Amino acid sequence: MSELNNIALKILEKGKGILAADESTGTMTKRLDGVNVKSTPENRLSFRETLFSASSMTKCIGGVILYDETIRQQTSKKKKIPELISDMGSNPGIKVDTGAKVLAGSPEEKITEGLDGLRERLKEYYKLGAKFTKWRGVYNISKNHPSKLSIQSNAHALARYSALVQETNMVPIVEPEVLMDGEHSSEECFTKTSEVIKKCFDELILHKVDLKGIILKPNMILSGSKSKDKISSEQVAKLTLECLKKSVPSEVPGIAFLSGGQSEIEATENLDLINKYNDTNFIMSFSYGRALQQSALKYWSKDIHNSDGAQQIFNHRAKMNALAAQGKWSKDLEN
Ligand code: 13P
Repeated sequence: MSELNNIALKILEKGKGILAADESTGTMTKRLDGVNVKSTPENRLSFRETLFSASSMTKCIGGVILYDETIRQQTSKKKKIPELISDMGSNPGIKVDTGAKVLAGSPEEKITEGLDGLRERLKEYYKLGAKFTKWRGVYNISKNHPSKLSIQSNAHALARYSALVQETNMVPIVEPEVLMDGEHSSEECFTKTSEVIKKCFDELILHKVDLKGIILKPNMILSGSKSKDKISSEQVAKLTLECLKKSVPSEVPGIAFLSGGQSEIEATENLDLINKYNDTNFIMSFSYGRALQQSALKYWSKDIHNSDGAQQIFNHRAKMNALAAQGKWSKDLEN
């Protein structure tokens, strides 16, 4: 088994998933503003340290995606953040893209940047302790979108990123996120997501990326947030599985979904049903940001010096999602 395949499997072993705590300073400031906490480096660290030292890190969280600021920070006890994560039994990872910018030639769409100088940055992150990385391509659905141009150019960037990451002996998370925003139906989400993922794999193969040493981070198949056609969790699970079966090569060891604006319970319930119906060899787990942090953040904001209550809430969500990643969750466990 290759070293990279080993790392990918370790991150997703036994129902473990990923905590996406890689919000850029801008996004984290929005989240903190939302709960009336001032966005300072100390407060951003304090919330994150609260999560990373929670007991569920050991059994439920196989990897944590960090932002550049956080991977360089030290805990209140002067321990380096990647070291804290490793000591808890998890794996530190790092977001390496520099964000989605307006796509020249199709100004309503985005292209993710960050390839220039990436090889050098990756070497530094590896030295800081990162075992895996993340790059997010983002696509919106409307009548003419995502365009061929956006699908092609984001797939190209994801593949060049992945090849560089594997060269540095880390596992790339390949994240093509088809956004939930809009009025589109679940069928449209299915068609566009399939097209986006297939193109990503065409490019990954062209760039000689070892598919056994990546983790795919896709969206689930949902209807748009403003669509009238609401579908059940059973339908979400079945459509998502059908889409992935048709578009993901069998070598890929694991798939870790983003939550993308679903509520905490929705994200858990959908993942659970995906696993109850999973008839593939792919590990199907989570790489959630908001769906793991929302309630914990709200609680923490009331007394940022008392971490216990926020940790209990986070531990519960992490545990529920780890059960869902094995198809063992049920609604009554939420109480
Ligand atoms: P959400 O789960 O909040 O969508 O965040 C996951 C993520 O990493 C988006 O890039």
